[in-house]
Amino acid sequence: MHSLINLSSVSFSYTDSDVIKNISFSVKKGDFVGLIGPNGSGKSTLLRIILGILTPRKGVVSLFGKELKKFGEWEKIGYVPQKATNIEKNFPATVYEVVSMGLLSIQKFPKIITKREDSKIKEALTSVSMENFSQRRITELSSGQQQRVLIAKALVVSPEILILDEPTTGVDQENKESFYNLLGKLNNKGMTILLVSHDIGRITKYVNKVASINQKIEFYGTYKEFCLKDAAYKKEYKLYSDKG
Ligand SMILES: Nc1ncnc2c1ncn2[C@@H]1O[C@H](COP(=O)(O)OP(=O)(O)OP(=O)(O)O)[C@@H](O)[C@H]1O
Ligand SMILES: [Mg+2]
Repeated sequence: MHSLINLSSVSFSYTDSDVIKNISFSVKKGDFVGLIGPNGSGKSTLLRIILGILTPRKGVVSLFGKELKKFGEWEKIGYVPQKATNIEKNFPATVYEVVSMGLLSIQKFPKIITKREDSKIKEALTSVSMENFSQRRITELSSGQQQRVLIAKALVVSPEILILDEPTTGVDQENKESFYNLLGKLNNKGMTILLVSHDIGRITKYVNKVASINQKIEFYGTYKEFCLKDAAYKKEYKLYSDKG
């Protein structure tokens, strides 16, 4: 079985120096990978490389066993970017319409919502407990609620891989927990997940692998191995677990 995501010796620079240095990394079907690292370590950049938004200076990226250049099945990948909720104040769309954009963006013409799509939209909204907000304007929601809607937009296409960049920023503790629970359930049903998070203590229940980067891959393995290897994070984990 090939990896769903595979990076081989990838380097990338925005300007003159590399912010991603020779990274090799792969995600297998059914993995739930927690990607961690300090601010500016290249996490969002790495995701944008995987999604083909940025082109590496060196190295090869493959999705579903196909080199990125030849890959076209983007409906298999759901993405929630970092700070996705910086929505323009006057953006007129309703919650329902925002989620429907997830479907319409992968449709060929004619772009219409059929009954089947309508039920997919409702299902996605229900999965993030936002079904009662479907006719509200997205701009009239709190940022945590907006974030949940954007997650529904990523889920509505039933992607095989879900890629999330710090999706719980601005989401309260209770909803964070239920959100991670939702990711855990999706992963149990077979969805492959790559999640950037600073919430290492909270996601350990759900992830099967941890990748720690700081321009290079510093560690990639199981969470247990990660704790053994990195005393600093071990301490941090203890801090979290002491808090319950
Ligand atoms: N559009 C850009 N142009 C130039 N440099 C950039 C750009 N975006 C990011 N960088 C730089 O690339 C490096 C990696 O940034 P990136 O956003 O990938 O970090 P990150 O790990 O996601 O950080 P955070 O935890 O704060 O989200 C940083 O040094 C950043 O300043
Ligand atoms: Mg980032």
